[in-house]
This record gives sequence, structure tokens and C-alpha cells, in this order.
Amino acid sequence: MTYETIITEQRGRVLLITLNRPEALNALNRKLAGELLAATQAADADPGIGCLVITGSAKAFAAGADIKEMQAQSFVDMHSSDWFAEWNHFAACRKPKIAAVAGYALGGGCELALMCDFILAADTAKFGQPEIKLGVIPGMGGSQRLVRSIGKSKAMELCLTGRLMDAAEAERCGLASRVVPAADLVEDAVKTADTIANMSLTASMVMKEAINQAYELPLASGLTFERRVFQALFSTEDQKEGMAAFVEKRPAQFNRR
Ligand code: CAA
Repeated sequence: MTYETIITEQRGRVLLITLNRPEALNALNRKLAGELLAATQAADADPGIGCLVITGSAKAFAAGADIKEMQAQSFVDMHSSDWFAEWNHFAACRKPKIAAVAGYALGGGCELALMCDFILAADTAKFGQPEIKLGVIPGMGGSQRLVRSIGKSKAMELCLTGRLMDAAEAERCGLASRVVPAADLVEDAVKTADTIANMSLTASMVMKEAINQAYELPLASGLTFERRVFQALFSTEDQKEGMAAFVEKRPAQFNRR
């Protein structure tokens, strides 16, 4: 499948998706949103893919939703098309996905990174929610996911002022899992994704579900959910193989579906 606004490249069991609208710093227009969703859903259904990496350019992961596309819209236009609702389907991808962020991740770009399971940041990364400067607020989850990721105080400050946060601050506050030199970002992200993609896919997908439940459930319910799915994994061949491989001191050979 060929796309106009993204580039996809399969590396082993990893799908690398590069956002590719350099003329607009990878601003997320509807075409890009549709293509990214199509590629993600295809990867979700493909037993040959175990993990996704989403990246941009050296200058911009993505500079936000496309302002020029939105500028003339009315409330009724936005409401009747339920603008941005399709991003819920992207976020719902069941396979692990890593955001590899260099340069600007602003507005919808920061929100796209937050929809991924974790963020690897280049030392050049700059995160922010500058929508306030446009007279609006985040619309792709920033007011919700950013708070859950970095806490109310810092999220509130970033959103109310529109200031940008560098990679070191992003790592300090837990937005980024790690910071790496910009030149190593994509290789590091693909290597990390490859490690994940070669684990048990069932266990990785269940792991995501369990960790994401921490956003939704009270602690007691979350702990019960975790125990039940932990127990359920004892019905899988991967659990038998993983534990046998440990006891027999050999690498595990997990299922690829
Ligand atoms: N939408 C549309 N076009 C964009 C864009 C965006 N979000 N961001 C950058 N561009 C375009 C610019 O208009 C410019 O195009 P032209 O050459 O045709 O003029 C091109 O990309 C290069 O941008 P700049 O010349 O501005 O580059 P710079 O290096 O001087 O500045 C920047 C970089 C600081 C990121 C600046 O481009 C900028 O502030 N961009 C907008 C950031 C922003 O406000 N993002 C939030 C968008 S709203 C949103 O995302 C809502 C939501 O919650 C989903």
C-alpha cells in the first residue's frame, strides 16, 4: 500500500511509520489522519507485525493539527463531522506502538505521541500544547492524557501558557520514557520495538490492556483485573514456553500471533 502523507517500512516484525508532510512540519490534516489510521489498522491485523514505531522528521514529529484546514470551520462543521473522533480508533490499536519524537511535538503532535504506549525523545524534542495561542484548547486528548501523564499542575501550566518543554524536562516529568541523541532516535526506537515484537504477542497485548486499565479503574478493580488476566495467561502456549525456556536455560520461542 502506498500513501501520500506517511512512509511505511517493515523491519522484521516492526512497522516503522514516518509522518511525511515536510512542507507543513507534519501538520496532521485529515488525509494524514486517514492514512495513519489505515496503516495502523492494517498492522494491527497483520500477524507479521508485533510492534509499531511512529516518527516524524528531524525538525518536527508533528507541529499539530493542520491549522489552515481548520481555520474556516464553524462549530456546526466541527460538530457534525465530530472532528478528531477518528483518532480514538488510532489510540485503540491493540499492538504496542512507540512514538519516536525529534523536534516539535506540538498540539495534536504532542497528543499523537501521548496516544502511543510510550515516548522516546530525541535530545532535540520540544513538546507543547500551544492551542491557547490560537484561541482554542487541545482537541485530540491533551487536556485528558497529558494530565494523566504528567499531573495537573504541569499540564495546566503548559496548556494555559502554551510554553514548550524540552526533552530533559519531558523525561523528568515522565512524559518521555528516555532521551537519546537525535542521530540515534529511529534506530533506538526500532531496536526497542524489535525487542517488544519478539516477546509473546498475546502477553504484550494483555499487558497494554492491564496498564491502560490503570487510567480507568479504581485501584481495587484494577488489581482484580490484573490478577484475572495474569491467571488467564496460564492457558497460553507462550506461558508454558516462556517458563520452560527459563528452567531449561534457553531462549524462548514465542508464538507469532
Ligand atoms: N498547521 C498548518 N501548517 C503548519 C502548522 C500547523 N499546525 N505548523 C506549521 N505549519 C506550516 C507553516 O504554516 C509553514 O508553512 P508555509 O511555509 O506555507 O508558511 C511551514 O509549516 C513551516 O512552518 P514555520 O515557517 O512556522 O516554521 P518555523 O520553524 O518558523 O516555526 C513552529 C515552527 C514553531 C512549530 C511553528 O510552525 C508553529 O508555531 N506551528 C504551529 C504550532 C501549533 O500551534 N500547533 C497546534 C495546532 S492546533 C491543534 O493541534 C489542535 C489540537 O488539539 C489537535
